[in-house]
Amino acid sequence: MDVKEQILHNIQNVLAEITDRKPYIKIDRPQDPNHGDYSTNIAMIAFPDVKSKFKDPFKFAQELAAKLNKSGELNEIFERIQAQPPGFINFWFSEEHLIKELGKVLDKKEKYAGSDNKEKTVVIDYSSPNIAKAFGIGHLRSTIIGQTIYNLYKFLGYKTIGDNHLGDWGTQFGILIYQVIEKKLDVEKQGVEKLEELYVEFNKDAEENPQLRDRARLWFKKLEDGDVRAREIWKKLTDTSLKEFSRIYDLLNIKIDYAYSESFYEKMLPEIIRECVDKKVAVEDQGALVIKFPGDGLPPAIIRKNDGATTYLTRDLATIKFRLSQWDPKLIIYEVGVEQSLHFKQLFKAVELLGWAKADMFVHVRHGLYLSSDGKKFSTRRGKTIHLFKILEEAVGRAEKLTKGGDKRIAKAVGIGAVKYFDLFHNPSSDIIFDWEKMFALEGNSAPYLQYAFARTQSVLAKVKSQKSKVKGEIQNQNLEKEELLILRLLIYFPEVVRDAAENFSPNLLCNYLFELSQVFNNFYQKHKILGSKKEEFRIALTSAVGQILKTGLYLLGIEAPEKM
Ligand code: ARG
Repeated sequence: MDVKEQILHNIQNVLAEITDRKPYIKIDRPQDPNHGDYSTNIAMIAFPDVKSKFKDPFKFAQELAAKLNKSGELNEIFERIQAQPPGFINFWFSEEHLIKELGKVLDKKEKYAGSDNKEKTVVIDYSSPNIAKAFGIGHLRSTIIGQTIYNLYKFLGYKTIGDNHLGDWGTQFGILIYQVIEKKLDVEKQGVEKLEELYVEFNKDAEENPQLRDRARLWFKKLEDGDVRAREIWKKLTDTSLKEFSRIYDLLNIKIDYAYSESFYEKMLPEIIRECVDKKVAVEDQGALVIKFPGDGLPPAIIRKNDGATTYLTRDLATIKFRLSQWDPKLIIYEVGVEQSLHFKQLFKAVELLGWAKADMFVHVRHGLYLSSDGKKFSTRRGKTIHLFKILEEAVGRAEKLTKGGDKRIAKAVGIGAVKYFDLFHNPSSDIIFDWEKMFALEGNSAPYLQYAFARTQSVLAKVKSQKSKVKGEIQNQNLEKEELLILRLLIYFPEVVRDAAENFSPNLLCNYLFELSQVFNNFYQKHKILGSKKEEFRIALTSAVGQILKTGLYLLGIEAPEKM
């Protein structure tokens, strides 16, 4: 249990002694240090329930604070738990406890704040580009954010299943196969670029010549029926795209556990459709089969078109059925752009109508767009996949200029780190304005800034011959300087920040924390001598702990932490 959970738990207990009601308990980290390290307004929130017993919220807060003070557990952590008008309860860490926690960081090292109980399973659906289409910047966001969410849950002790739901099925493949045959193309010699053009050209031609659409449909039908030629071309399209995508994954250093892909679910679709009909969840409507959501304010969703073709939704239903039976997850997380919000609302609702699971075990983490500085949608369309790859390469090139001697390995860590962090420090749902300067700002909230702070801790530690990793009794009771105290206070917050970031699907919370820690450390480093000072042992311990937390934090964000820069 982290400190916040402990406070919560204790408040729940003392509240239960006074009232049967269970109001939501909000615990904050106040900005103003005069309000303590934590603060809660629960006495004001719960006051209406206990009006008959207390004169005002402040009296009630005093009573709660007195009870909390008696609880042995919180007494060990806080030096003071105090009511403050008009009814807040504030908590102040004891220095003794902060130093004890520092020892814990140094003992547990990269395991600090983590767990490996592996009781619950969570499935994370992320990246998921489409075959024969560009790996767009939206897929880049999904890959970066999805991977971080994966890392966070894994670190917290969940069994994590990452699944790349590649778009490799659907009527568009009829078009592609038709085009490949018509144009006598050697697919293996084409880039994704060219394949995407085929699709665009077809749509142009079909405007003049609508019966082309029937030909394409026929090819998709053949593909579904297992026609050898159709399958062969489809396989080549897939392999060609995957080869190109893997260059991006390699550069990003990302490996996803599974890629079951849409095509995998093809054989389950008749059974899914039958179940929807049998359970009266889907009905015929103008030749199509649709799921209606009366009362939920959602438009109907098609699971079989009037030409018999299944849809993205049908395949997503099958995907859920498979995941539920295969892994029995507690949670399924989809990291997909905001433009698919309606699709996921319909999907989760349909699952509930089918009685497979409650809608609240599914989450759509929706990322916003990338915009260019003029506020327009930032597009990797021109040059598509290649362009995205070039952007990543340019990032590495820019990083080379920042690193000593242009070390290639370090430049890659810094350049790719900068791209990832720039995405992650924004709230996933917000739009991002693409900005090279900010991405590499050495004085700002950027990966290079964090990496520098980490490298600084390592350069101090490298000068220490025998690294002292234990904080012993003699360290206690020394007059802590303001800068030291700030670091200690931040270190102890790390476990709950990680938990908050995971529970809220918000890697940005972790980013902001790491930025704050780096700033506080840099400030300490500038003001105080570490090596050769009277408090050397303690300060080395502090430096080592900051290094550890930065390293763990960056690791969770999928960012490397080079020892030198
Ligand atoms: N391939 C889809 C796209 O690029 C994203 C798939 C997301 N995952 C899912 N289960 N629907 O739009």
